[in-house]
Amino acid sequence: MSKIKDRAALVTGANRGIGKAFVEELLAAGAAKVYAAARDPKTLEELVEAGAGRVVPVALDVTKPEMIEAAASRHGDVALLINNAGIANNAGIIDAEDTGAARAEMETNYFGVLNMVRAFAPVLAGNDGGAIVNISSVAGRVNFPVIGSYSASKAAVHSLTQGVRAELAAQGTFVAGVYPGPVDTAMAAEFPMDKLKPNDVARTILESLEAGEEDIYPDPVSSELNAGLLSDPKAVERRAGEMLPS
Ligand SMILES: NC(=O)c1ccc[n+]([C@@H]2O[C@H](COP(=O)([O-])OP(=O)(O)OC[C@H]3O[C@@H](n4cnc5c(N)ncnc54)[C@H](OP(=O)(O)O)[C@@H]3O)[C@@H](O)[C@H]2O)c1
Repeated sequence: MSKIKDRAALVTGANRGIGKAFVEELLAAGAAKVYAAARDPKTLEELVEAGAGRVVPVALDVTKPEMIEAAASRHGDVALLINNAGIANNAGIIDAEDTGAARAEMETNYFGVLNMVRAFAPVLAGNDGGAIVNISSVAGRVNFPVIGSYSASKAAVHSLTQGVRAELAAQGTFVAGVYPGPVDTAMAAEFPMDKLKPNDVARTILESLEAGEEDIYPDPVSSELNAGLLSDPKAVERRAGEMLPS
């Protein structure tokens, strides 16, 4: 069940970047209601106003299981869950000062998604199975050593997505993994390269979801990387490694 029109969706990390774009594009696609979840609901004021009654602010830190449980028990009409919130420490695995950032990335990017899907699985079951969209990254399909620990956390999201898809098939939940290339948000600000606009990416992802795609590569960089992984995965790995400054 991956339709958007007249359904309720919840987006994590909805206050800025791709998450904010998801809220806007869900409204444009006819969602009945969008629960915009953010650590600080004050940052959602503009979106709530623009939503004219269809955007409901939710205070939610994805590293806090008690907040996740509260959101799942309060918002029983959620039929589409978009796990978008994420953090990136732009450093390598060996190169990082210590393991603190790598743990924080796992806590947000992996355990955040894990806790969300566990809490919302029964909610989705009660809404014709519903759908889950997990935002991984091209870095979840091959390790980019310049962002090595982030890549590992996004690879964990990819694996989780496959497992959850199989486990929730019986209740009819559609589970999509998304593997974007560079998008023009604060997260990618340090990387001087061509980047897509967040709204274009969010719109493409929602269209792919409605078309029933399980593995979504929403831009030319990610489609090309996926094609490379299918034809010559070691060449893709070597190219990602060559991005390290010498
Ligand atoms: N930008 C890219 O090039 C790119 C490419 C591939 C994948 N992605 C993925 O796309 C997703 C969105 O990234 P973005 O580019 O939009 O980054 P962004 O502009 O840095 O936004 C990140 C969002 O996640 C939220 N967040 C962080 N930690 C959180 C937590 N513990 N609980 C709840 N919300 C939390 C942030 O909220 P605060 O405002 O409270 O910090 C913010 O809303 C991420 O999963 C990212 O890994 C991004």
